[in-house]
Amino acid sequence: MTLDSAKIVYFSPTRTTEKIIKSLSQSIESSKIEFLNLTRPENRQQKVTLKQDELLIIGLPVYGGRVPNVLREWFTQLEANETPAVCLSVYGNRHYDDHMIELKEMVTKQGCKAFAHAAFIAEHSFLCQPPENYIPRPNSKDLEVAKDFGQAIQSKISLAKSINDLTDIPLIGELPTDIKDTLHEDFIFVEDSCTNCGACAQLCPVDAINQTNCTITNPEKCIACCACIKFCPRNSRVMKPSKIYQYSKMMDKLLKKPNQIELFIK
Ligand SMILES: Cc1cc2nc3c(=O)[nH]c(=O)nc-3n(C[C@H](O)[C@H](O)[C@H](O)COP(=O)(O)O)c2cc1C
Repeated sequence: MTLDSAKIVYFSPTRTTEKIIKSLSQSIESSKIEFLNLTRPENRQQKVTLKQDELLIIGLPVYGGRVPNVLREWFTQLEANETPAVCLSVYGNRHYDDHMIELKEMVTKQGCKAFAHAAFIAEHSFLCQPPENYIPRPNSKDLEVAKDFGQAIQSKISLAKSINDLTDIPLIGELPTDIKDTLHEDFIFVEDSCTNCGACAQLCPVDAINQTNCTITNPEKCIACCACIKFCPRNSRVMKPSKIYQYSKMMDKLLKKPNQIELFIK
């Protein structure tokens, strides 16, 4: 099979999924590679139609063991026609639970044929004060594995005579029958060092931060992605006592047992 083009689609508030998917895509041989970053709401408005000789590579973070709810509407407009697809589940070293199966089902429902999957490990979004000497994941080894996985995908496509040769292997998890609630919490405290520069409001994936007064965050919109905390140029945004803060304090434990990347490709 020869690919006419490839679409690399991702949602990545704290940019770890973006790093992994970009490393993988370096191995894809196509003169037309298009990136679609779904993180900002305006980028989730455009309709996406995929062709048969196009490859979709989609990477999403794991939120509560599932696909983040904020993307559900985007999926309903995705139109594919037996388009080969690769799915990446990126998680913060706890577990990906049913994310992989759910993501596969979501792309299949829209007309894709998902034939390769992977679970990659990233720094957990809630880890806002990493311990000393901590090397964040994805590390250089993880990114090499992503590149090699891209090569395996490319050679599988090159060897396939038709889409029927792109067979899949069983995944881990169970197909969910419900939609889990999104985690909404009033957990952000803005320190006096904030200059109201607006950087946080511009990167928020759900426009939860007031554009004219950045100290105001709407907890009903906020999805706790922590991008505003991680990328504040003055580190003015911190967690205040809350469930998420409690959870963030347990992150050190997660770092002690680093999980292995899992690749699902025949
Ligand atoms: C609301 C929320 C829920 C999360 N749930 C899980 C989880 O169930 N398991 C896990 O291992 N990591 C979990 N994480 C961590 C993210 O999956 C991980 O940090 C991911 O790499 C973030 O992707 P990004 O950097 O592309 O935004 C969660 C993060 C957030 C913000």
